[in-house]
Amino acid sequence: MTGNRASRRERRPFIPFCVPWTDDGEVAEATDAIRSGWLTTGPKVALFEERIRRMVHARHAVALNSCTAALHLALAALGVGRGDEVITSPYTFAATGEAILYLGARPVFADVDPRTLNIDPRKVEAAITRRTRALVPIHIAGLPCDMDAIRALARKKSLRVVEDAAHALGAAYDGRPIGGLGDVTCFSFYATKNLTTGEGGMATTEDADIARRVRRLSLHGLSHDAWKRYTRAGSWRYDVVELGYKYNMTDVAAGLGLAQLRKFGSMQRARARLARRYATLLRGEDAFDLPAEVEGTRHAWHLYILRLRSGVLRVSRDRIIDMLRRCGIGTSVHFLPLHLHSFDRRVLGFRAGDYPHTENESARAISLPLYPGLTIRSQDRVIDALCDLARRHRR
Ligand SMILES: Cc1ncc(COP(=O)(O)O)c(C=O)c1O
Repeated sequence: MTGNRASRRERRPFIPFCVPWTDDGEVAEATDAIRSGWLTTGPKVALFEERIRRMVHARHAVALNSCTAALHLALAALGVGRGDEVITSPYTFAATGEAILYLGARPVFADVDPRTLNIDPRKVEAAITRRTRALVPIHIAGLPCDMDAIRALARKKSLRVVEDAAHALGAAYDGRPIGGLGDVTCFSFYATKNLTTGEGGMATTEDADIARRVRRLSLHGLSHDAWKRYTRAGSWRYDVVELGYKYNMTDVAAGLGLAQLRKFGSMQRARARLARRYATLLRGEDAFDLPAEVEGTRHAWHLYILRLRSGVLRVSRDRIIDMLRRCGIGTSVHFLPLHLHSFDRRVLGFRAGDYPHTENESARAISLPLYPGLTIRSQDRVIDALCDLARRHRR
């Protein structure tokens, strides 16, 4: 690259990998929560739960302070415990495995379908033992897993299903929103997610007993409706009925969520438009494999995971990421295989080669910028930079 070209590139504004879409609506809701005196769990949390519950067509919704907490409590409420095995895929974030380990259970991995990056039901079937209690499919990037196959397996083997839907608010399977299909569905509202409360999560379920148990566990195992104890309707008396945690959502966070919900439809449409544009403009470039779309599903487009096609370029994925950064473009990698992190190798004994599809796909993955505030101009810069790199670094 010539000096001139390099300095011109450096002057262009950096395109971050992710920017939350917040405006005066969030400021007003958070301010309202603060002014109301309800800083912690209160009426805004109840309203936020009701709105999400309706949106995903679930009977019950419990707001929590993260999806990690939702996964933990969902598995706890389903009775997963010491000595049990829970099958999930290693193509995920640390949280999925941690939630299983918190309960003294063991994560057992089933490899992914390399086309979708979602857990392969045939591999799940092969991993089932007499200790298996639950399945945790992850809707990677917002693309729903093969839920018919997963639910059929669960029925056949009397297993419970907890969906890790951290990426999948707004996704649908077979015409039904993700959120009402498994025994429990867990959403994330972390800062980078399609809908954010800063930090936050939600468990949705059809089962009133599971919802009650998740709610109780989220607040120290206190007797029902303990959060109301400071209201006129509440009582100062409470009972600790089991060992619980401190996982409740605050009203300030729920306020952000309510503001985000009002524009959720338009944010999702913007993501889908940008994803379509990436697909149209990158389709002709043989250096890249584009994300799969599956008939009968609606993708939530949390992430746009591009994969470098093997053997086409003479530079590594990591070098491409570095070069994009030098062009002022932020990207990320979703995910490093969970089984290859030092903790998982050391404590659970996993080794390279254990889950070849996860390893191969992860090694060639790059997540591109994808968020409602990404302008067409910025997206064009990302596409041009990718095509330029692909041309200059062909074998
Ligand atoms: C697949 C997956 N599951 C769970 C989580 C945990 O979400 P949270 O940060 O809300 O705990 C994440 C977070 O990025 C994730 O990507």
